[in-house]
Order: sequence, then structure tokens, then C-alpha cells
Amino acid sequence: MSRVRARGVEIGGVRFSELRRATILQKRAFKPRLAYGYATLLLLWGLPHVRFLVARDGDRIVGCAIGDRNGGQARVVNICVDPDYQRQGIGARLLRALDTAIPEGDMVLMVEADNQTAKSLYRREGFKEVGVSRNYYGRNLDGIWMQKVRDGSSAAKIRI
Ligand SMILES: CC(C)(COP(=O)(O)OP(=O)(O)OC[C@H]1O[C@@H](n2cnc3c(N)ncnc32)[C@H](O)[C@@H]1OP(=O)(O)O)[C@@H](O)C(=O)NCCC(=O)NCCS
Repeated sequence: MSRVRARGVEIGGVRFSELRRATILQKRAFKPRLAYGYATLLLLWGLPHVRFLVARDGDRIVGCAIGDRNGGQARVVNICVDPDYQRQGIGARLLRALDTAIPEGDMVLMVEADNQTAKSLYRREGFKEVGVSRNYYGRNLDGIWMQKVRDGSSAAKIRI
């Protein structure tokens, strides 16, 4: 895949008319078993406690970050960037935008133990590894819980 230099990429809340393109993005960015389908994205779009952000390059949806509030914490449910647009800081921008959109409590997420790119992004953005869920993603595929303690939060145990 060719790399596209992102110049005017903007981040904002997803629109209903963009959900199909967000579904295509999911398929391009994730392994098949981890990509969210249209029905899941539609459901998330409609839930009031969910924040669903996208990165746009013109009409193209090149990134997405979905988070929610859960038991007083902010949770990153899904984040991805189109392979053509990766390694240009869009993932970090999406994560920061989600951080702003859901300001209450600590921020938590789950990442595949072998996803070094994502873990390195999260560490840079202030997340620390706080736990392991064995076989979370399948046999011998552990999930790592990561947490970012934010001002005003109590660094409480993760509650997922
Ligand atoms: C994880 C993911 C969202 C990161 O998105 P991204 O836009 O590439 O993230 P960033 O550009 O902010 O940071 C990624 C890397 O690019 C580097 N980078 C950022 N800007 C850069 C630039 N201008 N030039 C070169 N490298 C740059 C960062 O330093 C970082 O490098 P590192 O991995 O060596 O630490 C993306 O790889 C992805 O969609 N992966 C597939 C889906 C996935 O695994 N999602 C996470 C599930 S938990």
C-alpha cells in the first residue's frame, strides 16, 4: 500500500453518512477477527455514552477512535489508522481527542500483548501496563490492560 502524506487531516465526531467508510477503514486497519462491522459501528454511534471520533482527509475516513464512560472511567474501545496514513501522528491525535472528549476518571484500554506499535503509542501518551487477561484474544493471545491516570482521578483499580 502506498503511503499518503497527511496534510489536512481533521478530527471530529463521526456522522451517520460516514459509518460505511468507517467500516471499510476497520477492515483495512485490523486483522479480520478484530475489525468492527457495520452493525457494531451503528450501535456504537447510537449509544449516548459513547464518543465516536474519526480522522478525515477530505472525504476519506483515515482513522477512528471510539471510547465510552464505564464506572467512572474513560475506556478506549477501538482505535485505528488506515495503513496508508500510519506513523504520522494521527493515532496520537485521535487518542488525545478522545482524552478530551471523555475527561472523567482514569483512561483504560486493552491491547494485544504482541501489538508493539500500539503499546508504544499508548506508553508515549502516558499509559502504563496494569494487568494481563490470559487468552483474552484467543488461545495464547493475551490482552494487556493499560491505564492512564489523569488529574483528579484516584488511580483506582481498573473496573472493566
Ligand atoms: C496503533 C495505531 C492506531 C497507531 O496509529 P498511528 O497513526 O500510526 O500512530 P502514531 O503515528 O501516532 O504513532 C505510531 C508511530 O509513528 C511514529 N511517528 C509519528 N509521527 C511520525 C512522523 N511524522 N514520522 C515518522 N514516524 C512518526 C511514532 O513515533 C510512533 O512510532 P513508534 O511506534 O516507533 O513509537 C495503528 O498502527 C493501527 O491502526 N494499527 C492497527 C489497529 C490497531 O492495532 N489498533 C490498536 C488496537 S489496541
